[in-house]
Amino acid sequence: MKIFLDTANLAEIKETASLGLLDGVTTNPSLVAREKKPFKELLLEICAIVNGPVSAEVVSLDLEGMLKEARKLHKLNPNIVCKIPMTGDGLKAVKILEQEGARCNVTLVFSPLQALLAARVGASFVSPFIGRLDDIGQRGMELIEQLMLIWENYNFETEIIVASVRNPIHVVEAAMTGAHIVTVPFKVLEQFTKHPLTDLGIERFAADWKKAGIEFNL
Ligand code: G3P
Repeated sequence: MKIFLDTANLAEIKETASLGLLDGVTTNPSLVAREKKPFKELLLEICAIVNGPVSAEVVSLDLEGMLKEARKLHKLNPNIVCKIPMTGDGLKAVKILEQEGARCNVTLVFSPLQALLAARVGASFVSPFIGRLDDIGQRGMELIEQLMLIWENYNFETEIIVASVRNPIHVVEAAMTGAHIVTVPFKVLEQFTKHPLTDLGIERFAADWKKAGIEFNL
C-alpha cells in the first residue's frame, strides 16, 4: 500500500519525506487555504520535495473552467495530478484531460457508482472519502470493500486513494482490503510509529544496560 500525505504543509511534507515514507501528496482547497502562500509557489515547493504524484484541485465547476485550470496545473510540473470534483462536467473534463496526458484524481467520491464512473472515464486515481461517510453514520470502509470487489471484477487501472482518513484504524482496515493508496493527515501518520509498550521497552533496555555498567565496546 502506498502512503500519501494529505496536506499542503511544507514542514509536514519534508518530515515525512525524510522518513522515506512519502509516495505522494494530496491537497485540496481547504488545505491550501491554511498555508497562506501563493498557490503556484506552494505547489512548486511541494513538487520539489515529493518524488511522486501531487494532487492539486481545480476550483471552477464548469467544464471550460476546469479544463483551463487543469491544463495550467499539468504544465506546472509533471508530478501534478489534476484533482477534479465528481460531477457530470468533472467526468467530461477527466476524459479529455487523460486523453491529453494529464493525470486526474476524481475527488469527493461517496458511492460505488461514482467511483465506477471515474474509472470508466479513465481517471488515473479516484478518492473515496471514508471519514465524511463515518461522520453521517454510514460505514466509510464498506465503500472501500465494495470498490475492491468491483475493481477485481473489471481490472480497472484507476488507483483507489482511501481519503478522508481520520485515525490509524482506518489505515489498517484500508490495508486489509488491499486498497492501492491511503492518504493520511500528518497527525495520523505520526501515530503509526508510536506505541506505549515500545516506549516502555526502550526505557527498560536502557535502564538494565546502565545498571550493569556495560561498555558498548565492539
Ligand atoms: O483527502 C481528502 C481529505 O482531504 C478530506 O479529509 O478530513 O476533511 O474529510 P477530511
